[in-house]
Amino acid sequence: MCLADAGRIPKETAMKFFVDTADIKEIKELHDLGLLDGVTTNPSLILKSGGKIAEVTKQICDIVEGPVSAEVVATEFNQMMAEAEVLAKIAPNVCIKVPLTLDGLKACKTIRTEMKRMVNVTLCFSANQALLAAKAGASFISPFVGRIDDTGSDGMELISEIRTIYDNYDFKTEILTASVRTVNHVKQAALIGADVVTAPPATLKALVNHPLTDKGLAAFLADWAKTGQKIG
Ligand code: E4P
Repeated sequence: MCLADAGRIPKETAMKFFVDTADIKEIKELHDLGLLDGVTTNPSLILKSGGKIAEVTKQICDIVEGPVSAEVVATEFNQMMAEAEVLAKIAPNVCIKVPLTLDGLKACKTIRTEMKRMVNVTLCFSANQALLAAKAGASFISPFVGRIDDTGSDGMELISEIRTIYDNYDFKTEILTASVRTVNHVKQAALIGADVVTAPPATLKALVNHPLTDKGLAAFLADWAKTGQKIG
């Protein structure tokens, strides 16, 4: 099914990895590793990239086949829809990102039903907000776990609550764990059963690290050198 035609994106069973950046070099590197299912950007990440949103988003979409979230910056419904039209024209895999406001939810519903495009509802900090986004037909809900942790609460508790609510009613909205700061966030999200994590490039790459892997590999290579053999 073509993403552009998708009224409802079929939920996949495997956890997906999105990278939270607009840095083309980093995106290409992760894509080449075969680790990338999608990309999330936001206005702050576009600022950091130094590029123009349409050009940067196009470059990302040329690399990654999966959903690439590009965020509207209007706060009023009609203006959001006008921006959504512009962003949607960039590429078929652009996922329109809207904020979790009443206008944003209205835009979500309209983009899903009329434009038939993916929508990522962002800046989610409560289970009730996630419930509203699912009711509005969001493809993805983005709860910001790191920013919740920063306030002294537990961001992962919110992921658990949303998982329970969505499963209670079989909502198809995918839980996109956002504002990920640590490898432990990724593990916790996977244990809870979040559908997606979006993490900075360094966090995704750090998932591979373990000192015993390094130590074990060094020992194997040292012993192998002593055999004097070659493979092939
Ligand atoms: C993703 O969609 C969000 O924009 C992002 O994860 C926010 O992360 P931050 O809290 O580190 O800025």
